Amino acid sequence: MRNVVILGSQWGDEGKGKIVDLLSERFDIIARYQGGHNAGHTVFIGEKKFVLKLIPSGILRPGKIGVIGNGLVIDPAALLTEIDALESAGVQVRGRLFISNRAHVLFPAHRMMEKMSEGREGRVSIGTTSRGIGPCYEDKIGRRGIRVADLLDKAVFRPQYEFVTKEKLAIAAALGIPADLDVSRARDEYEAFAERIRPMVCDTSVLLNGAIRDGKTVMFEGAQGTMLDIDHGTYPFVTSSSASAGGACTGTGVAPTRISGVIGVSKAYITRVGGGPFPTEALDEAGERIRARGNEFGAVTGRPRRCGWFDVPLLRYTANINGFDSIVVTKLDVLDEFETIKVCVAYKIGGRELTEMPPTVAEIEKIEPVYEEVPGWACSTFGISNYEDLPAKAKDYVAFLEERTGVEAGCVSTGPERMQTIIRPGSRFESLIR
Ligand code: GDP
Ligand code: IMO
Ligand code: MG
Repeated sequence: MRNVVILGSQWGDEGKGKIVDLLSERFDIIARYQGGHNAGHTVFIGEKKFVLKLIPSGILRPGKIGVIGNGLVIDPAALLTEIDALESAGVQVRGRLFISNRAHVLFPAHRMMEKMSEGREGRVSIGTTSRGIGPCYEDKIGRRGIRVADLLDKAVFRPQYEFVTKEKLAIAAALGIPADLDVSRARDEYEAFAERIRPMVCDTSVLLNGAIRDGKTVMFEGAQGTMLDIDHGTYPFVTSSSASAGGACTGTGVAPTRISGVIGVSKAYITRVGGGPFPTEALDEAGERIRARGNEFGAVTGRPRRCGWFDVPLLRYTANINGFDSIVVTKLDVLDEFETIKVCVAYKIGGRELTEMPPTVAEIEKIEPVYEEVPGWACSTFGISNYEDLPAKAKDYVAFLEERTGVEAGCVSTGPERMQTIIRPGSRFESLIR
């Protein structure tokens, strides 16, 4: 059994897409377990750039199976656009992609609700991706959501759709907000989408468990990151799904007893898009340099990402929640030109050192990060694929992160492409993907 979860250990955009694409060569099935088209997972193959949103990054490897698990919210228009774009770039998707009949369907009404809620006076603006993700999950948890299986059955779908949409229009009217929704046009569109996705829909839990019993291997691809997890993240500045390792089970219908390891993906520094507390944010020239060198602009919305220094207490917190066997340190090359590099090694509030991540935004905002400065290597690591070829000070940096976080860094990424990666011989990481 070799079924591994790969997920973000920070606030998303850690480079999961690159790592999943690289490792999917060694797995039979790649399954997404939560989120929706708020995700943007970038993969470079030579000159070609792909940004995967709903479809697992493993689809780029010929012959591999992709699964969209029950834990996702699916905008069929976004999914079909993504499938068409991949197929016109020469990636065969049909026949290799399976969609859970229990995943939830995202409607234009969800986007409308999000626009209303984000803009309302007195409401904290989360700075979402404006895709309607939160309202769709609200309907799921509120037990009025429409699932893929419902969409495929017109007799079930129509009354559900009428009810859910009319309810949202009533809320808009009650709040005095103009609603721009063509209810029957959207319904007809969705009925047409249903026919296009029908051949891909199945019980993906049965598919995955059957494959595992047959000795096939599965990689679970997380979206977002643990600090954006609905339970464990910086609530309410989070996304609305379970991005952490537990979500891999609930979001696919595969039991924890079938999972052999969990790998966290972490930048050599840290970024965040949207609002919310960020203890190690570098609002100075160093932050600008990271943004420019790392090209830190959102893959989905194009927004500039907020940049800051590696945060050890944060990584220890997410390692605890996910039980990381190993982490991948990505974008090491982005730090190539720094003379010194800051690392936050502890949190203090009012001079007192914290032993736990505070639960509230108010407390996290009060955190005084305790920094240690380590020497930079001031030369290029770009594209290095052998650990021994890294400059000594870059190796020292990786060792420092391992020592302080207590987690092995079994893989280091030195560029956006597949080959620009170091897998450390003898590591736990290597044994998990062998
Ligand atoms: P994801 O959402 O976690 O998949 O990450 P994104 O794709 O949103 O953002 C990561 C960005 O960094 C992408 O543009 C990647 O191509 C790029 N990237 C990933 N790993 C590396 C690396 O090691 N070095 C550099 N320079 N870029 C990288
Ligand atoms: P990947 O998978 C980074 C952020 C948004 C916002 C918050 C809530 O590419 O790492 P939402 O639209 O989900 O309700 O927005 O979460 N966010 C992400 N940030 N990477 C992502 O995905 C994100 N998906 C959502 O910016 O702060
Ligand atoms: Mg991303």
